[in-house]
Amino acid sequence: MTESTTIRWEQDETGVVTLVLDDPNQSANTMNQAFKDSIAAVADRAEAEKDSIRGIIYTSAKKTFFAGGDLKDMIQVGPELAQQAFDTGTAIKASLRRIETLGKPVVAAINGAALGGGYEIALASHHRVALDAPGSKIGLPEVTLGLLPAGGGVTRTVRLMGITDALLKVLLQGTQYSPRRALENGLVHEVAATPEEMIAKARAFIDAHPESQQPWDVKGYKIPGGTPSNPRFAANLPAFPANLKKQLQGAPYPAPRNILAAAVEGSQVDFETALTIEARYFTELVTGQTSKNMIQAFFFDLQAVNSGVSRPQGIEPRPVRRVAVLGAGMMGAGIAYSCARAGIEVVLKDVSQEAAEKGKAYSEKLLAKALSRGRTTEAERDALLALITPTADPQALAGCDAVIEAVFEDTALKHKVFQEIQDIVEPDALLCSNTSTLPITGLAEGVSRQADFIGLHFFSPVDKMPLVEIIKGERTGDEALARAFDLVRQIKKTPIVVNDSRGFFTSRVIGHFINEGVAMVGEGIEPASIEQAAGQAGYPAKVLSLMDELTLTLPRKIRNETKRAVEEAGGVWPGHPSDAVIDRMVDEFGRTGRSGGAGFYEYGEDGKRGKLWPGLREHFTRQGAEIPFEDMKERMLFSESLDTVRLFEEGVLTSVADANIGSIMGIGFPAWTGGVIQYINGYEGGLPGFVARARELAERYGERFQPPALLVEKAERGETFKDA
Ligand code: NAI
Repeated sequence: MTESTTIRWEQDETGVVTLVLDDPNQSANTMNQAFKDSIAAVADRAEAEKDSIRGIIYTSAKKTFFAGGDLKDMIQVGPELAQQAFDTGTAIKASLRRIETLGKPVVAAINGAALGGGYEIALASHHRVALDAPGSKIGLPEVTLGLLPAGGGVTRTVRLMGITDALLKVLLQGTQYSPRRALENGLVHEVAATPEEMIAKARAFIDAHPESQQPWDVKGYKIPGGTPSNPRFAANLPAFPANLKKQLQGAPYPAPRNILAAAVEGSQVDFETALTIEARYFTELVTGQTSKNMIQAFFFDLQAVNSGVSRPQGIEPRPVRRVAVLGAGMMGAGIAYSCARAGIEVVLKDVSQEAAEKGKAYSEKLLAKALSRGRTTEAERDALLALITPTADPQALAGCDAVIEAVFEDTALKHKVFQEIQDIVEPDALLCSNTSTLPITGLAEGVSRQADFIGLHFFSPVDKMPLVEIIKGERTGDEALARAFDLVRQIKKTPIVVNDSRGFFTSRVIGHFINEGVAMVGEGIEPASIEQAAGQAGYPAKVLSLMDELTLTLPRKIRNETKRAVEEAGGVWPGHPSDAVIDRMVDEFGRTGRSGGAGFYEYGEDGKRGKLWPGLREHFTRQGAEIPFEDMKERMLFSESLDTVRLFEEGVLTSVADANIGSIMGIGFPAWTGGVIQYINGYEGGLPGFVARARELAERYGERFQPPALLVEKAERGETFKDA
């Protein structure tokens, strides 16, 4: 009998066995080799000592219940390791199954987060009690890492709640539920307020069900809502793949398709066969590139970014207590809300009391919505609103230890508002600007303490967008950088750090995506195809509709300013083929974008987007201008990737993790790629493959696709793209 090293067996005098999940070598429990051996040993012992056992409780000694699969292992699974991964999974599932079918009641006492493998252990229990711990999450988020839950997750959720609910509530979106919402959605049976209550409830279930088994192990069990062999159900089934296809827009996300197939096929066979089907579909995903990309980005890179790879070391954190937000417009109002949500006092200042109050009303609106959806309570709402003080009086900013400026995009105005308040706030207050385009070094010249001045670029809408781009000016000090980083973490957002440059990282790179789409219009390519190519590449927004949202006059303004700056510095402005299209759209056709009521699209009275403007076909589209669809997609993806490499060359970017996360979370670079640099690293043929393809695009579509020297050198040295 192998020994159980990661699970403690604690049996009391009444015969209740508590299996304490407690991997001694890790801060969280994962499905590693040691767990495989441990759970097998536990199953052996449970079978051998069955007569002395009255019931079994799974719980954990860690803060989380169980963290799931070991992603460090998973990211390495290539074809050669696939069989091993398959065998490990099969062995773990067999052991869980032996415990599940022992004939004794099995309860999961979910004391903390149970995501992925953790929730699968809970699913292999007859009863689930979750501790209502703050921040605790329950669900099967594998799809968000390009995988499927192969520890019985597909097979058991389908049998627990039926194919439709399993797919929509649990599997396809990977929703992470709070314990209360997990209860409402049928993922757990009970919620407990304290650990003692949780264990008491687990024991009560055991007392009441001495011979418990899973519903699906009872003879004659039918999957709720039916299976495809039932004609009524079968009639609805085609809607699933069709909806899924629509949602994915042809973007290369294999996981949702495999999940759908595993659920439907698995529902028509017996339990054990369903587990095998699930495992086969998993193996296909785990050996593919998409899951590796997504694990790299959403697990490793995100962790690196949030834990401070780009934060200067050795500076004591000093949480912000009271923040001044200057400008209560769209951005200021959102920033005020996000700060108050984190418990920070906010003084929201605008030119008039009325304007400031309008900014606060935005928080009231968001909270009313949250309240109506049960996401907050009246007490929480009142407490949050009490933290926001709207004002027009600069003196009200006394005592603020941080300032975030979000007035109009105008250097002189920004200088003026900082002048007005810099001697009123705390003498060492952190000074931040939310400018989206103005160089930070120049803005800093308007304050007396330039070392404390930094860019904090939020994205709209602030309450939803998880990213903040921190911009270090030439004279920004390390202390300010560390404090800005900590402030972003304090409000639970993800900070990436860049050095000062026109457009920083995000605005500059997204500009290349948009320019490429617009340039294709100029080449005569059918506009609908361009939009379709963006969707198929995996971009969340269509390229021409995004241009309309941003307004066509904005890139002109930025272009002219940049051109002037380049020429003043003695450089040559290369121009872009999109320039001519934008000029014609604005000057000849008066179409400036959505806010002007007309752009690449038509807009209704209510501002709602209608059809693509038929004039595009008349004035731009030409027969024979079509290019391969693959080229259209890759022109967008390459234009952004290549410029990101140039940003590394220029020293604006220094961290690959920041670049990957910033590209996905800030500007909608397709998530399946794992981010803009992972796209290059994971490209077919690696860096040499990417370089060769860039040269091909340069030959066909213009010099802007020539790979930068840094990339060519790395490719020649056989490296992947790592930190500069
Ligand atoms: P907005 O026009 O909605 O709000 C600006 C606010 O500043 C107005 O309420 C105005 O009354 C106020 N203001 C003007 N002068 C003031 C003064 N002397 N003292 C106090 N308040 C004053 O503009 P929005 O969109 O909120 O943008 C603000 C800043 O954020 C700009 O620098 C913009 O470039 C930047 N930004 C905007 C993003 C966006 O998506 N709109 C994204 C990221 C940054």
